[in-house]
Parts: sequence; C-alpha cells; structure tokens
Amino acid sequence: MIGGLYDGGPTYHSVGSGRIETFHWRSHIKLSRIIILVPVILFIVPLFTHYYLSKVESDSPNIDIHRTRSKLEAFEDFTSMKASDLKSRIEEMMRIKISVSNELRDLEAKRQRLQMEVSGFTQRIDELKQELLHQQTDLDRLKISVVQAQVAQREAVERNTPELAPPKRMLVNSLPPKVPPSHHFHSCRMHNCFDHSRCALTSGFPVFLYDPDLYSVVNPAWDVDGFLKTTIKQTLGYNPHLTSNPAEACVYIVLVGEALSTEAHGTKSSPLDVDKLHSLPYWGGDGRNHILLNLARRDLSVGSGNIFDELDTGRSMLVQSTFRRSQFRDNFDLIVPPILGPPGGDVWQDCPLMLPARRKYLLSFQGEMKSASRFATTPLGHSDDADADNELNLDVFIIQHLREMTTGMTLDKFLIQFECIPASDERKSVEIADWSLCGTDSSRKSILKDSTFALILAPSDADFLSTTLMQARLYEALRAGAIPVILGGDQVLLSYGEVVAWRRAAVFLPKARVTELHFLLRAIPDSDLLAMRRQGRTLWERYLGVAQGAVDTVVAVVRDRLGIPPLPAPQTPSPSVFNESFIPLRADNIVAEPEAEESLGPLEPPYPSPSFRRNYSTFLTQGHMIWNDWADPFNLYPQLPYDTVLPSDAKFIGSEVGFRPIGKGAGGAGKEFSESLGGNHPREQFTIVMLTYEREQVLINALARLYGLPYLNKVLVVWNSPKPPMEDLRWPEIGVPIHVIKALRNSLNNRFLPFDAIETEAVLSIDDDAHLRHDEIMFGFRVWREHRDRVVGFPGRFHAWDQNYHNAWNYNSNYSCELSMVLTGAAFFHKHYTYLYTHWLPQAIRDKVDEYMNCEDIAMNFLVSHITRKPPVKVTSRWTFRCPGCPVSLSEDDTHFQERHKCINFFSQVFGYMPLLNTQYRADSILFKTRIPHDKQKCFKFI
Ligand SMILES: *[C@@H]1O[C@H](CO)[C@@H](O)[C@H](O)[C@H]1NC(C)=O
Ligand SMILES: *[C@@H]1O[C@H](CO)[C@@H](O)[C@H](O)[C@H]1NC(C)=O
Ligand SMILES: *[C@@H]1O[C@H](CO)[C@@H](O)[C@H](O)[C@H]1NC(C)=O
Repeated sequence: MIGGLYDGGPTYHSVGSGRIETFHWRSHIKLSRIIILVPVILFIVPLFTHYYLSKVESDSPNIDIHRTRSKLEAFEDFTSMKASDLKSRIEEMMRIKISVSNELRDLEAKRQRLQMEVSGFTQRIDELKQELLHQQTDLDRLKISVVQAQVAQREAVERNTPELAPPKRMLVNSLPPKVPPSHHFHSCRMHNCFDHSRCALTSGFPVFLYDPDLYSVVNPAWDVDGFLKTTIKQTLGYNPHLTSNPAEACVYIVLVGEALSTEAHGTKSSPLDVDKLHSLPYWGGDGRNHILLNLARRDLSVGSGNIFDELDTGRSMLVQSTFRRSQFRDNFDLIVPPILGPPGGDVWQDCPLMLPARRKYLLSFQGEMKSASRFATTPLGHSDDADADNELNLDVFIIQHLREMTTGMTLDKFLIQFECIPASDERKSVEIADWSLCGTDSSRKSILKDSTFALILAPSDADFLSTTLMQARLYEALRAGAIPVILGGDQVLLSYGEVVAWRRAAVFLPKARVTELHFLLRAIPDSDLLAMRRQGRTLWERYLGVAQGAVDTVVAVVRDRLGIPPLPAPQTPSPSVFNESFIPLRADNIVAEPEAEESLGPLEPPYPSPSFRRNYSTFLTQGHMIWNDWADPFNLYPQLPYDTVLPSDAKFIGSEVGFRPIGKGAGGAGKEFSESLGGNHPREQFTIVMLTYEREQVLINALARLYGLPYLNKVLVVWNSPKPPMEDLRWPEIGVPIHVIKALRNSLNNRFLPFDAIETEAVLSIDDDAHLRHDEIMFGFRVWREHRDRVVGFPGRFHAWDQNYHNAWNYNSNYSCELSMVLTGAAFFHKHYTYLYTHWLPQAIRDKVDEYMNCEDIAMNFLVSHITRKPPVKVTSRWTFRCPGCPVSLSEDDTHFQERHKCINFFSQVFGYMPLLNTQYRADSILFKTRIPHDKQKCFKFI
C-alpha cells in the first residue's frame, strides 16, 4: 500500500518530461524572435526543474523515505516483535505516511506551478508567432496596395480621355415652325417626314401629349369613349418621357381613338376631324413629329376601324391595329395591339400554368367570317372581283381542309368552328372581311386554355396587313398560353414587328401550307413548345397585357428608332438613420478576429464601378435581347450583368484600362494570384448589404469581422427597425464606410432595394449572423466575376417534388447532391437584379414576402433563374453558416419551413412554371488539393 503510494513518484517525473518534450517540438519554428526566446526557455525551464527536483530529493522527508524503505526491508518478520514494539512501529509508519503524503502534495503543487509556467511560455510563443504572421501579412498587403495604387495612378495619367461634353442641341426650346402642307405623305419614312433636329441624342426623348380634353380632334357627331381617354391619358402620365413643355418636345401625341361608332354614321365616315387636326397648335402645317394614337378597346367596336384611311394626316405617324397594305408605311407607322387588359398592375392571374406542355386540343379555332359587305359591294374598291374570288376560294379550301382534318383518322383533338354557337351578335355592316370572335371573353379563354395551339386566320381580305380582330385573337391566344399559328402569316404584320421577334412565339405559315399544318405542329417537341409559350407570355406581359405596357411600348419603339437611350432606371434613395447633427460613436480598439492568415488582396481606396458607359451602344449590340429576352426596353441601367466582354488582348494592346492581369499577364500561382484580380473583367469592388433588426451586438460583431477585407467598397446596413440605433452604440472602424440606411418600413424586401448608395456592380448580401471567413468571401467574389448574371454564394438549398402528400413542391435544406437555390443570407449577385426585384417582379411576390416575413431569398432565386434559365453557383464546401453563440434567428422553426413550402408553390403559380433549375456543380479554387512544387503557393490556403 505504501509502496503503491511511493510508486507514484516516477510517474510524475515522466509526465513532467513529457511536457517538456511537447515544448521542444513546438519550438521548432524558424522565426528569429522565437529563436532567441526558445533557448532561454529551454535552458531555464529544465534548470528550474532540476533545481526543484534535486532540492526535493535533498530535503529531509526524502531521507525519511529512504529510512522507511530500509526499515521496511528489515521488517519482514514482524511476528517476532513485541506488541508494544509493533504499536510504536505502526505509529511511526503512520507518521511517515503522513509526512510522505504531505511531501507528495508539495511536489505536486510545484509540478503544477512549473507546468503553468511552461504553458504560459508556450502560449506567449504562439501569440508572438501569430503576431508575426499578421505583421507579415499586413506588410505584404501594404506592399501590394502600394503597387496597385501606383498602377491606378498611372492609369489615371495615361487615360487621357476627357469627359465627353454633351453635344450641342440643334434645336433648343422652339416650337415647330409653320411650313406649307406636304402632300407626299404616302411615301413618308423617317428620313423624309421626321424632323430629327428636335430629338437630340442627349435630350432624353421628351414627349408632349395634347390634352384630349382641350384639343379634341374627334368629329363632334361622335360619342367620346371616356374610359379609353382617361386610361391612356393616365398611363401616358406615368411615362417618364412625358413633358409639359411643347417647345422642348421631340414628338407630339394626339389621342384619336376615343370615339364610339354609333348607328347614325355609316362606316365610311371617320371620327377624325381633319380640320381640327390641322389646327392643333404645334401641327406646324404638316404634322411633323406628331403621333396619332388610335387604340382599339375591349368591345372592339371602338377605334377598331381604319379611321385614317384616305385622310390627310400630313407627315404624322399613325398608330393603330388595322392597316391596309398600301397605307402602312414601313418603319414609320406602328401596328399596336388593342387595349384589352387593365390599365396596369399584375396580370399573372389571367395566365394559366404553362405545363403540361400538351393540352386537350392540339389546335382550336372559333370564328365566323363576316365578308358580306366587302365582297358584295366592294366598298373599298381596291381590288377587282377576280382577286376577291381567288381569296374567297382559298379560304373555302382552307375551311374544307380544316374540317376534314378534325374528323380524320387521328388521335389528336381539334376544336374548329367556323360558325359561332351561339351566333355572334350581328353588326349592321362590317368594314373588313375578317373572322369575328365567337362567344364571350371567358368562354373563349377557357377553350384557349385547353389548346396547345391557337389558329389565327389572316383576314380574308388580303389587302389588310393587320386587323383589330386578328390582333385581338393574338392577344387572347398569348394570354391563355396557346401558341398562335397564323395561317396567312406571310401576308400579315404583328404589333411592334420592327423590334419584337414574333417568330420565337408564334408559327407563321402561308395559307397554302394548310395541308402541312398538322404534320408541322406534331413535329414541334415539348421543349420548343414550352419555350414558345414562355416567350409568348413574356411578350404579352410586357407589351400587350396592360394599357401601361402598350402605351410605354409605343413610346419606346419610336425612341429606339431614333437611337435615343431610355431614361435611367429609378434608384431608391438611401437616407441615413442618423441625422446630420449626430455623429455615431466609434469603437476605439476593435480587435478583429485573426481572420486572414494569408494575404488575399490589396487594400485599395474606394473605387465605384464605372456606370452608364454604354448609353448609346447597348441597344445597338444587344437590342434584340433587350426587347425579346429581358423584355425591358423601358429603362437604362448603369451596368448590365451581360455587358460585353473584351478579348484578352485588350488588356495589353491598350484598348481598355483597369485590368489587373495576374503577374502582369505572365500568370502565376498563389502569390501572384493574391496580388491581382485577374479574370476577364476590369478591376472592381463589391458592396456588402446587411439587413438588421434589433440585434445590435450581433450586427456590431458582424461588422467588426469585415475589418481588412480586400475589394470591399462599402457596407450598407439596412436598419429595418423603426427604433433608431442606440446612441451609445460603438461602431467599429473597418477601413471602409459603413452606411446605415433608415428603412421606410420593416420588410425583407428592403434587402433587394436598388439603393443609390450601392456604387458597385457586385453586391454581397449577408445575414448579420452569417459567419463567413475572408478567404471565402474573396473566393466567392472571384467566382461571381465569372458568373455575373447568376447568384453566387454559399448555403445551397433545393426544391423537391413531394409526391407522397401534396403533389407539389417542397423546400428542402437536407444534404443533397443537387441544389437549385443559393440563399441570399450569404451570396453575391449583380445590382441589376435589385432593380428587377423591386420594379419588374409582380407585386404579388413582394406582398407574399411581407405577409410571411420570409422567402425573399427564394424570390430572388426565382427571378434570376427565370431571366437567365441557369441555376445558381455554389462556392466552397461549407453548408451552414450560423454562428454557434448567436441568438436563434427567425429561420429556425417549423413554421418557417412550412411557409417556405408555400412560397415555392405560390411563386411558381405567379411565374406560370417552376423557373428553378438543378445543378450538381460546386466551385472550388484551382489548385485546391493539387500537388504543386514546394516553392509555389496555392490560390487559397484552405479552399
Ligand atoms: C439627432 O439625433 C440625436 C440622436 O438620435 C438626437 O439626440 C438629436 O436631438 C437629433 N437632432 C436633431 C437636430 O434632430
Ligand atoms: C449616360 O446616361 C446617364 C444617365 O442618363 C448620364 O448620367 C450619363 O452622363 C450618360 N453618359 C454619356 C456618356 O452620355
Ligand atoms: C431530411 O432528412 C431527414 C433524415 O434523412 C428526413 O427525416 C427529413 O424528412 C428530410 N427532410 C426533408 C424536408 O426532406
């Protein structure tokens, strides 16, 4: 028993030396300061240890131990001893035991003291090592920063591109002078009838509207359609180009289509009063730069006629839905859709889901030919009877063939009616031989929603390029997602044809192809079918669906013709949460977490991304995409995610500045890589946007972590709480401005407002409780620079089909090998998408985000995937980002998930389909897990 106690001794010795070994090993570092320190410790510590130990051994209790040991040995046969002797021996032994215990306790205490000292030194060494690393990184970074600053300075000097001054305006503030009337208006084109001198490139295209209440050009005998007049006046009032100053105006709009036809007037009388038209105050004798707007309306009797026919409209442009071939002046007059929708607002409810691709009927048509007046009396007198007969015969053949097709041997279903059931209301006389619409708006809608394709027959009277009825049919087909098939498509023109590529949304066929129709329609695969349906819906929503869109499009087409850029998209002001007199407190000594153990890039002064550099060329190089893919010709954006990329030569053969090629173009591994941005785009920085609500300390910590982040331009904190920040809150100094924006109301949509304070293209949206390392942010930024049109970020999620319970979409955050969303709690995206989120996305989506206080990140993923038809990009391997110590955020509980399921399904209703796309791709840095020569450095140490 005592021996056991004693055996404890050597054990203690070996533990002690073990510590010292550990210490030896840790001190194997090449740093000079430590080299000095290490020998000192190395000698001192063993010296002390030795001293203590020898001291211990020479102390008296140790002698006791030795004595005890020898006595113990001599004590083998204690039966021979006397009892009293034995007792005193036992007492002595007890005494020895106590003294030994005390001694051991002392030793143990000394040992611990010693160990503490050793670990104290170890810690100090670690600290010094860290500090040295930091100092070195900082020094490296400063060196790079200096080099970059020199490059930037040289660029500034070499640039030598003086800011362009706006060119002189040819005509400034003068009313159109009066000239003698011109009678050659039949041959009008932009070059001979339009006065370009009123419309300078830099003018912003001011548009003047004659107030229809003051300057009516309608024949007094006609009734005025107040609804249309009010709607158009109102929608034009929202158009940013509208000016009240006629002297600066480029074009003058005259509202004509505001008259109701009444029984009293024959079809030959026009509601347009030419004398009134010619005496408009700015008519200038020949109506230069005037646009006569004749929009047809819901009941299709208003303005549906060709009211300008054979009238002296001078050099003005005509805008309406019905045109004769000989009357229409190419790229001068404008064919527009009838105004059948509401003045403005969301229209997605009108559209059915895009899937399934194939519907009940392959093709449908319901219409009745009203040809009597045209062919009985030839009132227009432009074609002789033989032509009319031919046209009729072709139509008779078509009708016959289509009838046969529907009854033939096929599994495809058709719904083709050439008589209306019930009969359509008889009009006294029809102006144009055309197919009338059967039934009511809703009955037609329900048939079209069941049709994969909608047949549209060109007017029987081939003299017409477009008729209101045909345009109305097109409108209804697109709204219902039935792909228009225009038989006689070679003889007609659709609305805004000079900018809208209708071939992407409709099938055009000559009438003679009627026999090939069925074959052709069957040959279109589902993917193209859906692409056409989606394109048709995009065009309908933007240009046809609401009156605002139709009117804005008229203005945009004329503006586009003139090569004048649109007006800049409106930004959201970013008022500070602090008033002018209040100066927020600064934290004195923010000790940033030792984030970067590697140099990630230079610290540069703020550098806003260049903006509005393609005012006059975006529409030239990307006009087709602007009109047809992004369907947004109404706004000029400071930059686009799809801005053109220069060839690599440009960096060196001097057509551009601002590039930061790696190793000055020679390339290189980690060291050179960390010094320059490289890539295909010039240098740039990013802005961090952080939404916060009453979690001040979490916010302050998050801000402090951003200290020393390269390429950071600015931090925007969106202060969602109505309560201002506490006055004694100390804001960290992080090397870039922190702008705290006072939000108008508490909404998660504020995360995506296009704040004017965001001066870079790249926006990094992060939650205040998301903890990203600097190298991860840097890597994300670099990856985003190569995928500027996508959401690039960290936490991946996906949409999963729930076939067991709901047959609907579910939101899923489980581990998975596919993802379709990257949460904007930690993601980069282009500032362009903040405009689209705020102004382009249907209001219903932002309302749903406000209703649930949730799902704004899902909405952003929907938006970007819808526009690009690409999935987001996930970077690095991290999956969760919540910091362990942070308070539970509002995203943790089950209702949160339930809401997100509902959001996903609701959003796909609004879009009409599920825009999210799956991806199995994740970006890691090049050279990650690659063996490289030992003198080379990887791109990033850890990722
Ligand atoms: C500015 O704000 C501070 C703190 O919120 C407040 O004490 C002060 O009265 C304000 N000053 C003005 C001029 O509103
Ligand atoms: C481009 O348009 C913007 C916004 O209207 C304007 O601020 C900028 O000066 C224009 N740039 C050029 C070169 O005209
Ligand atoms: C996630 O995975 C767990 C365990 O595999 C499973 O019980 C759960 O239902 C999954 N959640 C969803 C939303 O799929």
